[in-house]
Amino acid sequence: MGLRIIVGADDAGLVYKDALRDMLAADARVEEVFDVGVAVGVHTPYPSVAVEAARRVADGEADRALLICGTGLGVAIAANKVRGIRAVTAHDSYSVERSILSNDAQVLTLGARVIGLELAKKLVDEWLNHRFDPASPSAAKVALITTIEQENT
Ligand code: RB5
Repeated sequence: MGLRIIVGADDAGLVYKDALRDMLAADARVEEVFDVGVAVGVHTPYPSVAVEAARRVADGEADRALLICGTGLGVAIAANKVRGIRAVTAHDSYSVERSILSNDAQVLTLGARVIGLELAKKLVDEWLNHRFDPASPSAAKVALITTIEQENT
């Protein structure tokens, strides 16, 4: 079954978000793409967009989210405030791979002011190929993150 992916961005990430959304929608590995904004002329601040996307993933409406802001940092910080969400900013191939294989991160964030659109497309294309293995040694470490979260919220 294909991935259900939410895309979201603030003004700084809008152009990248729309391009990546269209790329994902045309990809056979993707079952569904849901866009939580922003759209042209809409100026929702990045924390609101990020939290809406993260809540939908946490609620099981989607498998993953792809969030874009100027740096990728603000949307990651905001998404990580949602219980159960592991959001990471990754601008290189190895980190994108490990975000799934080591960390089972459901949310990838990118900075439109940090990397070019072609690199963003390449990283997202690679991201689609990776799947977390719940039988891997990484699973216990990810479970520990969940335990720590539950103990501290
Ligand atoms: C612009 O609001 C900029 O701060 C935002 O896009 C993002 O880079 C924040 O982390």
